[in-house]
Amino acid sequence: MRIKRWEKTSSAADSVLVLLTEEDTQNLPNLSALDEGLRVIIAALVSRKDFSGKKGSLLRVPMVEGNLYLCGLGKTGKLKPAVVRDCLTPSLRTIGRQHNKSVRVILGSSETEKYFTVTLGEAVGLCGYVFDKYKTKGEDYEPFALEEVLTENYEPEEFAKGQVLAASQIFSRQTANEPGCAVCPQTMAEKAQSLAEECGLECEVWDEERLKTEKAGALLAVGSGSKNPPRLIHLTYKPENPVCRVALVGKGITFDSGGLDIKPSSFMRTMKGDKTGACNVLGVMRGAASLGLNVEVHGILSCAENMPSGTACRPDDIITARNGKTIEIDNTDAEGRLVLADALCVASELEPDVIIDMATLTGACMVALGKYRAGLFSNDEGLAAKILEASDLSGEPLWRLPLEDEHISETLKSPCADLVNSGERYGGAIFAAMFLKEFVGEGIAWAHMDIAGPDSTDKEYGVYSKGMTAFGVRTCLEYLAEL
Ligand code: BES
Ligand code: MN
Ligand code: ZN
Repeated sequence: MRIKRWEKTSSAADSVLVLLTEEDTQNLPNLSALDEGLRVIIAALVSRKDFSGKKGSLLRVPMVEGNLYLCGLGKTGKLKPAVVRDCLTPSLRTIGRQHNKSVRVILGSSETEKYFTVTLGEAVGLCGYVFDKYKTKGEDYEPFALEEVLTENYEPEEFAKGQVLAASQIFSRQTANEPGCAVCPQTMAEKAQSLAEECGLECEVWDEERLKTEKAGALLAVGSGSKNPPRLIHLTYKPENPVCRVALVGKGITFDSGGLDIKPSSFMRTMKGDKTGACNVLGVMRGAASLGLNVEVHGILSCAENMPSGTACRPDDIITARNGKTIEIDNTDAEGRLVLADALCVASELEPDVIIDMATLTGACMVALGKYRAGLFSNDEGLAAKILEASDLSGEPLWRLPLEDEHISETLKSPCADLVNSGERYGGAIFAAMFLKEFVGEGIAWAHMDIAGPDSTDKEYGVYSKGMTAFGVRTCLEYLAEL
């Protein structure tokens, strides 16, 4: 989709979209962006209480030619980039579905302007996304119509940045949306390799033989039940004079059946999405390279398919992770922390300044925080604060959960090995995070994002279409860009 500067001489767009805060609706005479004709119509709609600027509202007014759309942004004092993005994206989505080929976007007040520029690029990139590659596009299939967005507030560089952010998220979503029959660990490796070629990244893949010589016993154990063997993928983005070095680690379970501790069928549904952490790492690597960020970024994807079979690892098995720690398997469905254990060892060996992992790790985190917020755990106050700041800008809500708990700590111990991979039912997200901590190198600032929950959605909302959301990509890019 194109973004173009709007000029008085431009040919008229199909439709007009006006973004207004609640205060703007009370201050129409002073909004210089609106010409007299528009102002009169909007004033009438406001006085009739058809439109009040309420956050997220969208009013369509059919005109002689095309439509006028009014989108509410809520209170001026509460404006931030995430608010504009979450209102603008669904508005453009609706406009594109209502057969408009082009739309002119007008900002009510200058207050909106400072949050608008990057956001428009992002909204334009995200508004038309749906995962429909497997739909046979029959006669009743309606393609998304919107092709062109015009605006007076034209900032090509900022738009381009927004478009990169959108493309990074869509890359992650598109991969995460693929079913288990289409994407297995080897496919993840192929995708990483072609991304590396496209963006000038280094890429190293460890296959099952190499994983054995590298002593990645935990990842191998999780992958042992599947005919699709596991892979550990290491992507590197290296700018010339980086300000620091960050390792991103992603859980890449291409399907989580639970293994021998098989999941009930209703819980197994959607487990194609258990590779979202790894897909997000691919998205962030793509974004970091396209934006030319001044940070060295290592992306480590730990990929396996968790399946039950005669070769699968069993409950009671004792395995050895890369750092030599032994783990008794209590539950084969607690596989994410196992594949992350080896990946966190590999990341720690790089001696980075920071490690951030993303994982659809526990149902418990979703029970605690709901479907719209991810859990954040960190051993470093400064890092946690920076990530929370990035999350505020990105509009991906995070909530910090504790990483220290003397009682839960006791339950990590096994009578016959160093650790056990699952414990009592309550506090499952904390247990998992504390387990991961055992594999993070001494003195490295580390943060863990448990994205089970917001990783996917069964309804369309804000910037999200049905399916995988790539939740975490924006926050990571925002964090990296601020370093
Ligand atoms: N992939 C799941 C967690 C999950 C659940 C993600 C629902 C998204 C939605 C993970 O591997 C898992 O099965 N966790 C178990 C751990 C338990 C066996 C200790 C869980 O949360 O029930
Ligand atoms: Mn599982
Ligand atoms: Zn899982």
